[in-house]
This record gives sequence, structure tokens and C-alpha cells, in this order.
Amino acid sequence: MVSIKAPSFLAMAVTALASPSDVTLAKRANPYGIDVSGHQPSVNWKTVKANGIVFAYIKATEGTGFKNPEFNSQYTGATNVGLTRGSYHFARPDVSTGAAQATYFVANGGGWSSDGITLPGALDIEYNPYGATCYGKTQAAMVTWIRDFSNTYKSKTGVYPVIYTTTDWWKTCTGNNGSFGSTNPLWIARYASAVGTLPNGWSFHTFWQYSNSASPNPGDANVFNGDLAGLKR
Ligand SMILES: *[C@@H]1O[C@H](CO)[C@@H](O)[C@H](O)[C@H]1NC(C)=O
Repeated sequence: MVSIKAPSFLAMAVTALASPSDVTLAKRANPYGIDVSGHQPSVNWKTVKANGIVFAYIKATEGTGFKNPEFNSQYTGATNVGLTRGSYHFARPDVSTGAAQATYFVANGGGWSSDGITLPGALDIEYNPYGATCYGKTQAAMVTWIRDFSNTYKSKTGVYPVIYTTTDWWKTCTGNNGSFGSTNPLWIARYASAVGTLPNGWSFHTFWQYSNSASPNPGDANVFNGDLAGLKR
């Protein structure tokens, strides 16, 4: 999920690979999850479930012109084995407005329901894999873009989107803006044995993507910061 172009992040990933089992042991009490995209075309959800995975985030869209072709089968598969699941949108602030992308996301699998099995949609905003790290935006313009996406998502679904990011990217590209912490749950990516310093505005994280390998499961590895009842809420 995270671009490998950013040197600082690569360094963290290398650190993480040194001791994945430590992370696993430390977090065993919390619900585990995976996130998958079109890179994982044939997920065996029964096996994922049998391995103890409780939740999944599934990529739905990117920008305003890309839908994950595997989305429907992945989302249905996760649902059928009883996982709590949600979808995510890969932000492309360089191609269209936040409102346009939130609308596209909601129209293509990013909606939300209070059915107890649907996680709020997530905005995956991170190192640009295609060009300039901050998509050519100033910090203020980036904050405005994220706010536009977040407010549009909220007005369409009733909930604020989860924000997936890294502390380093958030500092670099938003000036470490602290104004989302009171509304948007944080899904922090850090491939290390501890979650580390969070971006400004958040005093705790909701999800932690602690490794880019969920092996033996597909996708990236995540843990929820709470218990199962909290995840359902
Ligand atoms: C966040 O960014 C907005 C827009 O640039 C700015 O007005 C606001 O003061 C910032 N807030 C914090 C807490 O960083």
C-alpha cells in the first residue's frame, strides 16, 4: 500500500522486517486485519479467517478514473466469511478535487452502513508513487484538499473517513496539520515494533499498519487499537 519510493519509509520497512514476530506477540490480544488491492487477485478468505484475521480493508478506487477490478469479489469474499470490512480510496490530489474523489469513492464501493460489519471508508493519502511526494500541492492546499474529501464523504455517508497516512508524509505535505484529529480516525502506517510518534492532532491511533507483509495472509498487516467490541462499534 505504501509507496517504496520514499527513502525514509524504506528505512522503516527494513527495520520492521528484522522482528515481525515481536510485533505479533505484543499485539496478539488485539484484532488483526489485512488490507488488499488488485495486487492480491485471488484471496482465499476462508483461510484468512481461519488464520485469525478479523477485519479487512479493500481498495475500491484511486483518483477519479480507477476502480480496483477485484473489489467486488474481494468485498463479497470477506463478507461471506464474516469479516468486518471496509474499503479505501487511494488519494490523487494532483488529478481532481477532494469532493470529486469522495463522490467517486462512495459511488464505487466506498459507502458506509451502520450494520455493525462495515468500517468507515478510508482515505489512503501518502507518498505519491507517480511523481512529486506532495502531488505538487502546498501544505495549505493539501489540507484544503483533504478537508474537501473528508467533508464530502461525511455528508454522503454520515461518518468521517478514516485517514491512512504516515507521520513523515503528514509532516512533509500538510505541515503536520492538527485539525483532523478530532474528527477522523487515524490509520497509521509504520513498519516498526512500535507505532511511534503520531501526526499532530491525534492522541491515539485506531488502526496500525505495522508491516507490508501479512504472510501467510495476503496484503499488508494491520492491528486494531482496541478490542473486538470496539472494532464493531
Ligand atoms: C490546518 O490547516 C489549515 C489550512 O491551512 C489552517 O487554517 C489551520 O490553522 C491548520 N490547523 C492546525 C491545527 O494545524
